[in-house]
Amino acid sequence: MCGIVGYIGTKEAKPILLGGLKRLEYRGYDSAGIAVIDQAMSQVKSIGKISSLEKKMANQEFPGSLGIAHTRWATHGQPSDINAHPHIDCQGIIALVHNGIIENYQSLRQLLMQEGHEFVSETDTEVLVHLIEKHYEGNNLEQAVQRALLQSQGAYGIVVVSSSEPNKLVAARNGSPLVLGIKKGEYFVASDVAALLPYTRQVIYLNDGEMVTMDRDGYKVTNLFNQKIDKEIEKIKWDLAMIEKGGFPHFMLKEIYEQPQAISNTLSGRVKGGQNIVHLRSLDGDIIKKLPHINSIKILACGTSWHAGLVAAFLMEKVLRIPVTCEQASEFRYRSPVIQPGTLAISISQSGETADTKGAVELVKELGAYNLGIVNVVGSTIARLVDGGVYLHAGPEIGVASTKAFSCQVTALSILNLGLSKILDRSQPLPSGKPRVPDIDFKKIVDELLILPEKVEQVLKGVYDIKSKRGIVHKIAEELQDKNNFLYLGRGYNYPIALEGALKLKEISYIHAEGYSAAEMKHGPIALIDKEMPVVIIAPSDSEEPISYDKIASNAEVVRARGGRIIAIVNEGDKIISNMAEWVIEIPNTLAHLVPILATIPLQLLAYEIAVLRGNDPDMPRNLAKSVTVE
Ligand code: G6P
Repeated sequence: MCGIVGYIGTKEAKPILLGGLKRLEYRGYDSAGIAVIDQAMSQVKSIGKISSLEKKMANQEFPGSLGIAHTRWATHGQPSDINAHPHIDCQGIIALVHNGIIENYQSLRQLLMQEGHEFVSETDTEVLVHLIEKHYEGNNLEQAVQRALLQSQGAYGIVVVSSSEPNKLVAARNGSPLVLGIKKGEYFVASDVAALLPYTRQVIYLNDGEMVTMDRDGYKVTNLFNQKIDKEIEKIKWDLAMIEKGGFPHFMLKEIYEQPQAISNTLSGRVKGGQNIVHLRSLDGDIIKKLPHINSIKILACGTSWHAGLVAAFLMEKVLRIPVTCEQASEFRYRSPVIQPGTLAISISQSGETADTKGAVELVKELGAYNLGIVNVVGSTIARLVDGGVYLHAGPEIGVASTKAFSCQVTALSILNLGLSKILDRSQPLPSGKPRVPDIDFKKIVDELLILPEKVEQVLKGVYDIKSKRGIVHKIAEELQDKNNFLYLGRGYNYPIALEGALKLKEISYIHAEGYSAAEMKHGPIALIDKEMPVVIIAPSDSEEPISYDKIASNAEVVRARGGRIIAIVNEGDKIISNMAEWVIEIPNTLAHLVPILATIPLQLLAYEIAVLRGNDPDMPRNLAKSVTVE
């Protein structure tokens, strides 16, 4: 949510800043701006995407090797040239970019206005630059920033420059991510590593309450009280190709196609064919001493990650035989939850930066739960907050609608479930002496996990054809692209997939879609069904629970009887539900808890194809942001 870049060095700042912004554009894209300092400050801002900013800058000179830039996702004040960042002080000396929300901005604004500061925008951010201006008298820039931040409440990642100190870049963080990039004689700062990859792999992650002051000879990390903090330099493993489209028209499509490889990466080194152990570092070390005693699990996440959590909650409760619940982090954290001793909290976040998930992690930590994280972005805030966890290793996910992260999250949670089943199995027999956890066919699950990438590949080939555009998904998309509503139904493990399929469609095609439990349909959504209503029924046969297939078959009958147009996701060779459907998408057989991975893929592609046919940009859906770092 909002992308920030800053540069100080010897090269021309403008192309570095614009290049960085483009790599961060997925974080926000309603307006953008840049400020560069040479002797004086040059700055320009523009509503719209970064291409609009570039056009505006085309005929202007921007000399200077120090500068900051920003791509915005509006919170306070609508997208406009004036509300875009950087914001500038009254004297035109200080420029500032900000990601986050300053919660006490109204009172600060009033105070500053009484003192004669002139505000031009409707943003919360502008108070920061005037507050820094106020404290700049008699202080240097970092001192002024420290004083201003000590008066501010809320979340921020900021970068500040001043034309009075043209050899200095100051950045600070509280709640919104900032990473510092290091190269000899050059320093970078950005909201995430994607902006830094072309220039350096050496990075320092700032923590909340930390700030950095850089000049061309070095950098110093301190807290807001100017006490020095020693920081470790880390090396980023991602490379540049990973954050480029690689011939695909959109990142989203690229990421859908990366799923076989991404799942292999999540599995790599953690499970081996024929073995009945898992290798998870999060289950080694100190935490292993605590985990055997857990008596409940609370899964916390937002958006697509929450859907992966719902799948895991079904699975873990079934296998581990302890209560497992999955909650939206945003609701959980504000409802005074009770966390019993012995609770394991598992937080799931692709970005590792989602404000509500982070807030929930902090809360459960405070309430004494053991904390594990399922995170994709290495070094992200949530990854650093938890006691241990499982990285997805899915590679960067740029498309705003999450795809490959979801399949890797379900994969990682399945591995974690195997690991936990071992631990609980040994330590918690029932009073009768019988093992608490019923035997599971560990090797069978591992073997199935290992052939999952191949099965995903098979689904991709079977339902979609990038070149000919003649797959089943294209046919459905062409026929249904103009509909105003869709209904998605599933039961058990596939209920979260109904939610996920509907979410994907809403996010990028802007068609209203409801995801519902097929069983609950009769309590409401059935009223919506008529000849206009496409109904996606996720109904692979479930050998573990055959009753579930029979029940969803009767739900399909009910839809058919009311004229609904059924799109069925079924196993190869299905006869019953296929016969009721207008379109049939077949997926290979797999274990019930892994069906969500295979069943989601055609739904991701369907949403993508409809969005493209409707002329939308699936990588930058309106109003959404990839990383939601505000509440
Ligand atoms: C945003 C994104 C979603 C994502 C959700 C949670 O809404 O658009 O794609 O699922 O945030 O993000 P996280 O990074 O915590 O998984």
